Parts: sequence; C-alpha cells; structure tokens
Amino acid sequence: MTAVCLMNTYKPMPLSFIRGEGARLWDDSGRQYLDAVAGVAVTNVGHSHPKIVAAISEQAGLLLHTSNHYRIDWQQKLAQRLTQLSGLEQVFFNNSGAEANETALKLARLYGWAKGIEHPLVLVMDNAFHGRTLGTLSASDNGTARLGYQPMSAEFVKVAFGDIVAIKQATRVYGERIVAVLVEPLQGEGGVALPPPGYLKALRGHCTQNGWLMMLDEIQTGIGRTGRWFAYQHEGIVPDVMTLAKALGNGIPIGACLATAAVARLFTPGSHGSTFGGNPLACRVGCTVLDIVEGEGLLHNAAVQGERLLAGLRTALAGHPDVAQVRGMGLMIGIELTRPIREVCLVAAREYGVLINVTRGQTIRLLPPLVIDAADVDRIVAGVVGALGQRVTG
Ligand SMILES: Cc1ncc(COP(=O)(O)O)c(C=O)c1O
Repeated sequence: MTAVCLMNTYKPMPLSFIRGEGARLWDDSGRQYLDAVAGVAVTNVGHSHPKIVAAISEQAGLLLHTSNHYRIDWQQKLAQRLTQLSGLEQVFFNNSGAEANETALKLARLYGWAKGIEHPLVLVMDNAFHGRTLGTLSASDNGTARLGYQPMSAEFVKVAFGDIVAIKQATRVYGERIVAVLVEPLQGEGGVALPPPGYLKALRGHCTQNGWLMMLDEIQTGIGRTGRWFAYQHEGIVPDVMTLAKALGNGIPIGACLATAAVARLFTPGSHGSTFGGNPLACRVGCTVLDIVEGEGLLHNAAVQGERLLAGLRTALAGHPDVAQVRGMGLMIGIELTRPIREVCLVAAREYGVLINVTRGQTIRLLPPLVIDAADVDRIVAGVVGALGQRVTG
C-alpha cells in the first residue's frame, strides 16, 4: 500500500510488523526477526513485556489523564526514582526527547538571565543530534535535518566532540557569554562516536570552574543502554542537567529533564509546562521500566552481552575490506564502513532475519533490547557478517 496520505518525511523499509515479544518481532506474513534496533534505543526491556502490558492495561482502566492542574502520584514516584538513580534532584516531564532538550535549553537561558547575561551561548558538538524542534535543530549538527530550516538560532557555538582543548579555546573566544555545554556522552545519530576516556570528567571540571551548566543528553544512552543507568556514571561524575526519553517509556511517549535543585529552582509556576507531560500512564510505565531493568539485572546483561557482541564482531570482521572500525559501549555498537553499502539493512532482514540500522550514511548501528542472550548476540553477528559478506555495491 502506498502511503499517499502521509507526509513524505520517512523512507520506511518494505517491512511491517504486527507483533513483538522480548527481542523478537513478527511481520505480517508471520516471519520472525531478531530486533537489533529496539525502535532506535526505545524498547530496552523488550517488546510486550508482561509487566509493561499489565501496567498499561491496569492504568488505562483506572485513569489516563487529568493534567498538571492536579497532583499526579505516579509522576512524583517516577521523579523520586530517577533522582535516586541519577544523583540529580528535580524532574520536569515531557513527551519526547526534543521537548526534554528544549526544557534543558530553557533552563540554560534562565541561568544566563539570572546572571545578567544578555546574549547567552551554549556550546554544542560537531555531529550532535538533539531533536527536530527549531531550538534543538539549532543545537544539532545534522545537515539533512537542518536543510531549508534556516535561520538557525545564533545562541549555539559548535566545537569538536571529545576534544577538551576545543572547549578551552571556545572559553577564551566567547568567555563570559557561555552559560552551558550540551553534549551526548556517546553520539548515537552522529555515528556511534565515543569520546576519549576521561573527556566527560574533564568537561565536568571545566564547567564547574567556569560556572557553566553541564547538560548531558542521555536520550539514546540512558536507561541502561551502555551498561550503567546513565553513561556519565562510567566516569564517576554528575552533570547539572540531564535529559531522557526513548527507553524511559519503552514505547509509551515520555521525556524528562532532570536538574540539580539549584538549577531547577529557576523554573517557577507558569514558566514552563506541558499538557500531556508526566501523565499517569507514561509515568507508571516509566516506573515499571525501572523495576524491570533493576529486577532482571539488565544493566549487567547489557554490559556482558555488549562485550560479547563487540568481541564477536571484531573477530568476525577483522580485515574485512568494507569495515573501518567496530566500536561501542554496552549494547550501543557501531560498525563504521569504508563506503556506504546500500541495502545492507534490507539484506540483513531478508536473508538473516536480523534487524539492523545505518546512521550517518555508512555506520551500521546496533541497539538491541537489553534482554538479549548469548544466542541472540551470535545471531546478530552472523546476520551482520552475512549481510556485509554479500558485498552489495552502493
Ligand atoms: C541523543 C538524542 N537526543 C534527542 C533525540 C530526539 O528525541 P525525539 O525523537 O524523541 O524527539 C534523539 C533521537 O534520536 C537522540 O538520539
């Protein structure tokens, strides 16, 4: 069926799924696939998890929406859990990642305003991706996503990702106008890029020294993806602001902006809001996701299976002429190719029943649900290696 009634913003593969369970999906012909994308880092606890199904069904029968004009107990519960896990102190709930980042950017504006800075600047990174609202697009460095939407907001200064020297140079050039830095701990859309070890720690120190807000976009990396609740925990630091979305709802739309109390208090009643943000359904599901990650040991599983996947791919693809590098952390893995290989996702799906993704044109990205086991990992390796082995020309 041609999607003539849908706006032309996506180019979907010729596949349609009707059912999912754990790390598996079934298409409309009944064929089973292993999902190594998880709806782009969303279904971390797997498809149709019985506890998520129960939480949704029960809450739907009780209450879906009342608005933020009333206290919402599930919102308070989820905020409490997230603050305990993150070391941050207060939460604002949204419905998506872009909105969560808008919340963070608004906090940065208020922070600058409180300091009397008239034209505040936020440092952002080469190849960053923070969303598709006009504000978050301005903070992103993605040519296709920005094309035709100029002018972009002038409040962002772009520096090289993972390079603390570039940050220091920007400090010298822009000085007191800088109020914050917004960065993904690992870049997802930007090609699964990892900063050098110690970068986030050095950045934390620099932000503290200069009175900037350290704002981490954990929308893709958060909720266990890298083997810790949040990727910054690998470096033993705590940011001033963090954003979450994607896996927090496992498919139910939710976003969250967390901050220290000192930063969060810049908001006052009426200064920010959302009709749907923090509704009982989304927050109850968020609490259930956290219960499952904890109860099923999924942080540990992500670390263990991530190592197996990385090692398996590195061994199987060693010396492959089309592979430049295999890198990653936990279950966020990129295989950078030496050239774009068209159809690699379709070949992996059709021939091997493994769903993979390509980002930045020539980096295969693997983001399987955190519930995968060793046999699943081996099937993903076989699917990727098989699809690349076919040498489909670009
Ligand atoms: C790091 C990061 N930030 C923000 C976003 C935007 O999230 P959403 O699509 O929910 O607005 C994404 C989406 O891919 C992302 O990966």
